[in-house]
Amino acid sequence: MAKPDDPETRRAPEVSRRDFLRGTGAVISAGIVAGSEVLQAKDTSAGAKILGPDKVPIALRINGTTKSLSLEPRVTLLDALRNELELTGAKKVCDRATCGACTVIIAGKPAYSCSVLAIEAQGREIATVEALAQGGKLHPVQQAFVDNDAQQCGYCTPGFVMACKAFLDKHPNPSVEQVRKGLGGNLCRCGTYVGITHAVLQAAKQMKGGRAHA
Ligand code: FES
Ligand code: FES
Repeated sequence: MAKPDDPETRRAPEVSRRDFLRGTGAVISAGIVAGSEVLQAKDTSAGAKILGPDKVPIALRINGTTKSLSLEPRVTLLDALRNELELTGAKKVCDRATCGACTVIIAGKPAYSCSVLAIEAQGREIATVEALAQGGKLHPVQQAFVDNDAQQCGYCTPGFVMACKAFLDKHPNPSVEQVRKGLGGNLCRCGTYVGITHAVLQAAKQMKGGRAHA
């Protein structure tokens, strides 16, 4: 599939890890790691609150539940999910915002969790693949992946499923071309794109038929 027209759409809602590191470089001589307000201000003497490098309290809204953590500000959302919360559905593959294996949904939008700092994800609803199936029943997108044999090794699959869910929430009646473009931010090294496209179209029909759940 083609790369997305706007790859920035999958990055951090406000501050990407690249921005974060760039900002950290601006203040590194002071030996600090700071939150977004400091990074954007560039001037740490402006009275902004400085956080880190030690652990700080962080609260994340994940799958409808608030999780309280103690993390260094440099920790990505992906690492927080996988290493601190045992939510390992999102996969770490490239760890640099190119493959989509780590895709979660933040405030209704797909996001590469490897490129969002956990501290920046506070205050937003985060949905991971673990929350899709309900009552022992697969979400229509998950069921469609099964029905259409849309995975081989499966490593890309959770990210694709979340990207498909977010895509269909915005495009309930997509064309094939829209599917290809809309999922262009996710890569499958096994080349299961045909199955994935069929899965999305099947899920779209089922979700429109009222058999979907949130
Ligand atoms: S692991 Fe995040 S985009 Fe590849
Ligand atoms: S199924 Fe193997 S990378 Fe997609």
